[in-house]
Amino acid sequence: MQIELYINHQQVLLTVQPDDFLVDTLRKQGLFSVRRGCDTACCGLCTVWLDGRPTLACSTLSFRAQGRHITTIEGLRHEAEGFARFMAAEGADQCGYCSPGFILTVLAMKRELANPGEADIIHYLTGNLCRCTGYQGQLRAVKKYLGVAECNM
Ligand code: FES
Ligand code: FES
Repeated sequence: MQIELYINHQQVLLTVQPDDFLVDTLRKQGLFSVRRGCDTACCGLCTVWLDGRPTLACSTLSFRAQGRHITTIEGLRHEAEGFARFMAAEGADQCGYCSPGFILTVLAMKRELANPGEADIIHYLTGNLCRCTGYQGQLRAVKKYLGVAECNM
């Protein structure tokens, strides 16, 4: 079947099978930042924005993107690089495999939450796992990026 959607603001016409998942469809388009890290919809590595909301591309059928807007980190390069500098400053860049999905979630959180505290940040990021277990460094980076005071629990 053919679907028409927007990927990083560009209108795209794609041929997909009814059982194709978005993670594979996007990777076929050369968007290799979209990664698969599990078969259980629990790691968050495949996170993209679907109409601005963080969404798991590994469990979203491609045809469901018909007429919708997909954003990957390739479409937010400048903003992502800005946050990546906070990650690096906290030593939280590590292997980087989870970073695209994690960063997309952080950028969405910045838009969605007004004045989040540490508990709000941890809750928002619950679905994004890191195999390097660098959560403290990630948390420090997110708090500094969002301007959350260290004592804000
Ligand atoms: S690959 Fe999608 S949640 Fe793990
Ligand atoms: S930085 Fe290695 S998996 Fe997250």
